[in-house]
Amino acid sequence: MIDTNLEFLQSELQEVVNLFDGADDIKIRHRFSENENKFVNTVTLNGKVYAYGNLVDVKGGEIEKKRLVKRFAKLSLYKGLSRLTGQQLPWGALTGIRPTKLAYQQIEKVGEFTEFFTDVMKVSEEKTALTKRVIDTQKGIYERNDQNTDFFVFIPFCPSRCKYCSFISADIKSAQKHVDAYVDALVDEINFSAKFIKKLRSIYIGGGTPVALSDERLEKILCAIDKINTGVEYTVEAGRPDVITKSNLKMLKAHGVTRICINPQTFSNVTLQKLGRNHTAEQLVEKYNLAKDMFSVNMDLIAGLEGEDFNVFKQSVDKAIELSPDNVTVHTLCIKRGSYLAETENRLSGKEVSDMVDYAFGALTDNGYSPYYLYRQKYMAGNLENVGYTKPNKACVYNIDVMEEIAQNVACGANAISKRVFSGGERIERVASPKDVLTYLNKLEEIKNKKEKLFCSLV
Ligand SMILES: C[S@@+](CC[C@H](N)C(=O)[O-])C[C@H]1O[C@@H](n2cnc3c(N)ncnc32)[C@H](O)[C@@H]1O
Ligand code: SF4
Repeated sequence: MIDTNLEFLQSELQEVVNLFDGADDIKIRHRFSENENKFVNTVTLNGKVYAYGNLVDVKGGEIEKKRLVKRFAKLSLYKGLSRLTGQQLPWGALTGIRPTKLAYQQIEKVGEFTEFFTDVMKVSEEKTALTKRVIDTQKGIYERNDQNTDFFVFIPFCPSRCKYCSFISADIKSAQKHVDAYVDALVDEINFSAKFIKKLRSIYIGGGTPVALSDERLEKILCAIDKINTGVEYTVEAGRPDVITKSNLKMLKAHGVTRICINPQTFSNVTLQKLGRNHTAEQLVEKYNLAKDMFSVNMDLIAGLEGEDFNVFKQSVDKAIELSPDNVTVHTLCIKRGSYLAETENRLSGKEVSDMVDYAFGALTDNGYSPYYLYRQKYMAGNLENVGYTKPNKACVYNIDVMEEIAQNVACGANAISKRVFSGGERIERVASPKDVLTYLNKLEEIKNKKEKLFCSLV
């Protein structure tokens, strides 16, 4: 527990502490005071005082002021912890906001963001340059418009659970008795939600593993989506090669799907087996060869997987480049504290994972890919990031809209979060559906009412 006189910032200050290895035991006292436009944050670590005054020109009223109070309190704690522990983190004091979102806000205010990133937020030169490249690649697709709509459908089932996975999804064998009811409820919600679409930009069926469903069940969902599809980008997170078949690929194509994910995570069969993914690298290549002329393909990789060193990860990146899908997404392993893996795994150091991520950046950009979307989560190895890379003109509109929160998202299914944006994303209202399938089924009518209010209210 941090001793602070800004109670409302307790959890955000804790996020800063979580960034530093071994900082849990440091005794932290934080005091904020304000004198005209001067904020003073005094941070005492293990009894030693680190005091910072920040001259702030507050122009934007109360909301903007609160934002700045938060920013400078976190920054002061970051600087104190960085001095005490000797650790400098790649993303500096940036937590709780997507890097590109903050960069776009700065660009809008003062025309550029790089000085603010490096000098104020203590972001490294490399990560500042990465953010700049992402913004450059997103040009032409990034569009702040409250009418723009992305349509999302969530399938919470998988052929088996992977050991590292941090997403909500059930093994389809153990959830079998609820699957039909879930598909029917989903079709009902899709039909009901069609009227909330303003200007359709993209459709995304995510998971879990949508193609873990039987063809018959999957087709029911695809037929419901047919009624709203106007020929936009349409992604299905097919994901696991062990459930991708000629037959489901053909069906996706017939229903207008344009993009699918076929995810290796790694090309090491030893790691795949350890993770419980029930497929081999060879199967992945076989399914990719079936699909590559039918769809634009994305491949997900993860840096920092259990038992992998730099060379194993490098081979996976090199193999993905050799196969040449339109998109490659490089995730950094994210392990929640207290999870099975956090307790059992020999975790790689931040430096080792950082070398992997740097290699992926160099190799992919040398081979014609550009970074095009970027996000960070809590508990990521080395405090790094996930980056989507794309070949020229193949960037996924859905990923950009969702990461930047600049379009409304009409989301259906358990664990789906619908969003309505106002003033190009300056204000966002949300409706979150229950994560658990049974609760979702029981609350469907309530969810529909909430969505009606969200998308149809006048303000
Ligand atoms: C929502 S999952 C669905 C993908 C699909 N079911 C599959 O496994 O191929 C999307 C991606 O998140 C990534 N992911 C899942 N758990 C992760 C974790 N703990 N750390 C980092 N990335 C993770 C994986 O790369 C995965 O492909
Ligand atoms: S198949 Fe995908 S969503 Fe399902 S458990 Fe594995 S990584 Fe997670």
